Amino acid sequence: MCGIFGMTGVGAVAGTLKALKLLEYRGYDSAGIAARREGRIDICKTEGRVAKLEELVCSLKETDVAIGHTRWATHGAVCTANAHPFLSQNGKFAIVHNGIIENYLELKKKLGDDVHFTSQTDSETAAHLLERNYQGNVLDAVLHTARQLKGSFAIVITTVYDEKLYAIKSKSPLIAGISQKGACFCSDIRCVSHWATSVAVTPDNTVAELSSDGVRFFDFSGNPLSVPFFAPEKAEAYESVEGDFMLKEIREIPARLRIAKEGYVRSGGLHLSAEEARRLKRIYLIGCGTAYNSGLQVAAVARQWLNLDIFSVIASEFIYDNYIADGRSLFFFISQSGETADTVRAAERVTKSGGLTYAVTNTSESSLTFVCKRTTNIYAGAEYAVASTKAYNCQLQTLTLLLLDLGRMRGSVSDALYMEIFGGMNFLPEAIGDIIDNSRILINLAETIKDCSAVFYIGRTADYPTACEGSLKLKEISYLHSEAYPAGELKHGTLALMDPAVAVVAISTCDALRDKMASSITEVTSRGARVISVSPDVFTDATPVILPKIHPALAGIVSVVPLQLLAYYVAKALGRDVDKPRNLAKSVTVE
Ligand code: AGP
Ligand code: GLU
Repeated sequence: MCGIFGMTGVGAVAGTLKALKLLEYRGYDSAGIAARREGRIDICKTEGRVAKLEELVCSLKETDVAIGHTRWATHGAVCTANAHPFLSQNGKFAIVHNGIIENYLELKKKLGDDVHFTSQTDSETAAHLLERNYQGNVLDAVLHTARQLKGSFAIVITTVYDEKLYAIKSKSPLIAGISQKGACFCSDIRCVSHWATSVAVTPDNTVAELSSDGVRFFDFSGNPLSVPFFAPEKAEAYESVEGDFMLKEIREIPARLRIAKEGYVRSGGLHLSAEEARRLKRIYLIGCGTAYNSGLQVAAVARQWLNLDIFSVIASEFIYDNYIADGRSLFFFISQSGETADTVRAAERVTKSGGLTYAVTNTSESSLTFVCKRTTNIYAGAEYAVASTKAYNCQLQTLTLLLLDLGRMRGSVSDALYMEIFGGMNFLPEAIGDIIDNSRILINLAETIKDCSAVFYIGRTADYPTACEGSLKLKEISYLHSEAYPAGELKHGTLALMDPAVAVVAISTCDALRDKMASSITEVTSRGARVISVSPDVFTDATPVILPKIHPALAGIVSVVPLQLLAYYVAKALGRDVDKPRNLAKSVTVE
């Protein structure tokens, strides 16, 4: 999931450092820069954040060619030795890599015992291969190396032999950018959109060569490729924040929901022909983590009014399963970043087999939008905290709108129901604003939860996905053990774990299931667990977090907010780094 960058132009070291700060959301295990000057390549790298690298980087003299990296480790421990860039043994090549070189053990063996590896990473293999393959022409060595690698890789290369930068790309994202001041390679279009006047999305299985004359692209056999450049959409400028991004992003939910609804209407809604809508047999909602939970939630809601099979599937599972993906299947690929490798791979699979593909994303120029036929923006605005919050609420609202439109086209959603739900969305910002303004109870509850041995989240039907999202939020930023269960499932095993050190968060927004939830709550309190109920109703023996009464189709957009806040306050009470939790990264670009 690393961020890679390379640039040519005046002040390349400073420019690379600046880019790494923007790319840090992709990984923050370690960071490093290689600076190329006449006859040598110098490297400065360190375990830890880019801020730490910034303190050390003055040891590198400014120059015109530099490459940089911010790492999320896949192979080898988190330490300075495993930080990128890596030098070839003779010091003539340096590389940074995003992805996994799957055949690195085989390649290492081929390189033989003469090659001394300084790290445990798969990535270092590429540097040594370049040295081995160099026979007087750098481009040939790069092409030869590209043909030997298997897996997913975006690799940026600098060499003492010339002032160009080279790149090899297969599956991991790589952008080439050009400006008046120089040119660059970068993992993320948004990180160069302020600087570059034109950019190109490097296609898969491509070698690129960047020089003062521009960028040339080749397939792995060395045949030139024509790749279009275009003016990038300006990304929102990175803002620093006092306090934590996560809290700021939760506070933005009301405003973002308004913007998202307007944006959806402006975009013209579901761009499906009447014939495509009529022929549909099934719908898939596919994503990972929070994006998967949003699909799970909307599927539970839309099943009430769409006479179609609706499946929510985890992207990494979908790829290896055998779901029907023909022209009568409609796929929503949900991804805040649009870069999640599992989701992009799943979309590629469906594109090949003829399914109708939509990207539902916060990033309109991303790997996912390039693969999918249609894109719907969720308009959540830039999200920096690793724990996704406002994107989830906007995903729920946008997916609800898409499926409502579909229901209307297919005649299963009446105009009255449509207006009830569509109009109901106008009440969401205020309802959520009230919850945020009255967080005191959640701050107090966090103090008791922080010492629990485990926290279970339970709910039924459309409240179960909310439980999943609440639990995911808590575990990823507080590191407490947490699981979500359909409330009725507890008695089939999990009740064995209930004791006074356990907390249970019970979500209940569905009137028809209120009594069933009351029984589930009694079952766990009888075993000594403390219960917090999140509901418009009050339950015996549970500490209530009261929700406003919301249309059932929209309740999940509101009921998740106290859970997002609770996770935040528990993590704060435990002194965690809320925005950059351990072992994680914002964008997961490895499978
Ligand atoms: C959410 O809090 C997570 N950090 C993570 O589950 C995330 O939602 C997942 O990796 C998917 O990301 P995407 O939406 O950018 O595809
Ligand atoms: N496999 C490389 C490493 O572990 C790169 C990881 C990545 O891109 O996430 O250093």
